Amino acid sequence: METQTQRQTVLFIGAGRMAEAIFAGLLRREDARIGEIIVSNRSDRERLAALQARYGVTVTQDWREQIGRSTVVVLAMPPGDHKAVLAELASQIGGQFVVTVAAGVGTQLLEASLPAGTPVAWVMPNTAAMIGESISLYTYGQAVHEEHREILSLLLAGIGESAECTEQQIHELTAVTGSAPAFLYRFVEALEASAVSYGLSADTANKLVAQMVYGSAKMLKQGTPPAELRDGVTTPGGATAAGLRVLDERGYAEALQDAVVATNARAREMAEK
Ligand SMILES: NC(=O)c1ccc[n+]([C@@H]2O[C@H](COP(=O)([O-])OP(=O)(O)OC[C@H]3O[C@@H](n4cnc5c(N)ncnc54)[C@H](OP(=O)(O)O)[C@@H]3O)[C@@H](O)[C@H]2O)c1
Repeated sequence: METQTQRQTVLFIGAGRMAEAIFAGLLRREDARIGEIIVSNRSDRERLAALQARYGVTVTQDWREQIGRSTVVVLAMPPGDHKAVLAELASQIGGQFVVTVAAGVGTQLLEASLPAGTPVAWVMPNTAAMIGESISLYTYGQAVHEEHREILSLLLAGIGESAECTEQQIHELTAVTGSAPAFLYRFVEALEASAVSYGLSADTANKLVAQMVYGSAKMLKQGTPPAELRDGVTTPGGATAAGLRVLDERGYAEALQDAVVATNARAREMAEK
């Protein structure tokens, strides 16, 4: 239910793909609780001009000028830039709700860097945020009230589905929800290469494989467990079974586990820089 949340002025520090996905989602919802959206970067004026023309947002190359009148600050720049920006932000904010979407940057780091009592949240979206189909994980800091939860739900609803987790779970699941789309695209590239090797055009191969992935994902979304779906296409001793045996022999599942561990380790390393 909508409460008496005041109109928000949302400042994005970072004007890349994720910032655009989030503010475009907010604008689509046309919610009265969102007043002005301000978008900033340091160097790419053309990008800012294009965003202003397309969405009617306010743009600036110096977020410091806009911090005083903002009520929500979304940190949408690379993890490695957070420490420096947070250090500056600490001396300039007073009660704003600070949300980061950066891999590896948790609420503990935000709280340790910002004045005591600053409400903070960490959101880990994925690339499908660009089409409103992200699965985003999120967690709050200690000083968050109902109003902040309401604002975060607005930010999240514009980019897809979401699930509240603990900070530790987000660190551990970043690879699974955030980076695994890249693992899936690698899988698609390999299958497309196979199709092309049998004489298909790259375009046709792409269409076939994309539809195969889409149909399989839709069946998964209906709630049938993947092992059951796999059994459904695998006759014992049949052709698919022969293919799966090769994947198992080559350590398919182990390779994915190792990829998850390596991704999470690197995300932490970058955030700590
Ligand atoms: N894309 C994804 O699928 C995805 C998924 C989950 C999480 N994320 C997170 O979202 C964040 C942004 O990712 P993205 O894909 O949107 O990146 P991006 O497209 O490369 O955009 C990064 C933006 O940050 C700005 N920026 C960089 N350093 C800055 C600084 N010190 N101060 C102010 N602005 C700065 C850049 O502009 P200037 O260089 O001109 O300043 C640019 O506008 C990252 O932390 C990433 O971990 C992304």
